[in-house]
Amino acid sequence: MTTGDFEGLAALVTGGASGIGAAIAATLRDRGARVAVLDRDPSGAPDGTLPLKADVTSAEGVRTAVDAAVAEFGALHTVVGNAGIGAIGSVEDNSDEEWHRVLDINVLGLVRTARAALPHLRAAAADRPGAVSITHTCSIAATAGLPQRAAYSASKGAVLSLTLAMAADHIREGVRVNCVNPGTVDTPWVGRLLDQAPTRRPSAPPWRPGSPPDGWSPPTRWPRPSRTSPARRRGRHRHRAGRRRRDAGAAAAPRLLLRPPPDRLRQPDNRLRPRPAPPARLDPGTTKDGTR
Ligand SMILES: NC(=O)c1ccc[n+]([C@@H]2O[C@H](COP(=O)([O-])OP(=O)(O)OC[C@H]3O[C@@H](n4cnc5c(N)ncnc54)[C@H](O)[C@@H]3O)[C@@H](O)[C@H]2O)c1
Repeated sequence: MTTGDFEGLAALVTGGASGIGAAIAATLRDRGARVAVLDRDPSGAPDGTLPLKADVTSAEGVRTAVDAAVAEFGALHTVVGNAGIGAIGSVEDNSDEEWHRVLDINVLGLVRTARAALPHLRAAAADRPGAVSITHTCSIAATAGLPQRAAYSASKGAVLSLTLAMAADHIREGVRVNCVNPGTVDTPWVGRLLDQAPTRRPSAPPWRPGSPPDGWSPPTRWPRPSRTSPARRRGRHRHRAGRRRRDAGAAAAPRLLLRPPPDRLRQPDNRLRPRPAPPARLDPGTTKDGTR
């Protein structure tokens, strides 16, 4: 369905020729934006978008592509920094070169894109206040401890912090900066990672990859960081432990002494007997043996 909430806006999506980026580019297009796709291989850019070949590791290449988008659309309102690569391994597994490569694309790629785009975004913010933004594709790896993702998680943690710092720097210029943290989304990239992975693909729930259009909300079963403070969690833990102890104690206690269980009440010998009659009331002037 086409809605016009991005009508008249110009957007640039890095890594927009595949997976999540392609879904974002198509959605922006469907909602009325003119969209440029910056990608090292733009052949998969969605129809109706402007494909721009550039690598986010090249400051010059990114600047040329951003300028080409502005020349085509006349302005730039929305930038989605999405180009990224994955890496599998613990800190012992990946070489320095691999670490540099992951950080160069996933983190510095966003820096280069923002540097090239910000002058255009500031100019657009003056014309369309509130409509100008940068959005980064981060990952739940930024906040959840995932095994075998040391370099990737470190890069996404940096993306999260970079987003917060940029948001603080540019909000007064009318440029909002945010990130989204998808869970696992079934894209070509995830397919490649699973092919390389030494471990088996988990086959049963709770593992469920999303597809790109619904990749924005993490699958509900993924562990999320608790919003409760450690002190409050400790308090809650003590409270629950106390309740468990009390319950256990109550279970072990000789409850029969306090209240006979229902089946005993049903036994014939246990039937309520008529109360013994109270002693006859004596006339105040009468002694116990009845004499006055
Ligand atoms: N798929 C997931 O489960 C998942 C989960 C969380 C976050 N992410 C993030 O979403 C983003 C997109 O991932 P995806 O799964 O759609 O991957 P994908 O491989 O399907 O698409 C990535 C795109 O980025 C482009 N790209 C890669 N390196 C580039 C470079 N140096 N310069 C220019 N373009 C480059 C690729 O050509 C490709 O078109 C990444 O930042 C990834 O970290 C993915």
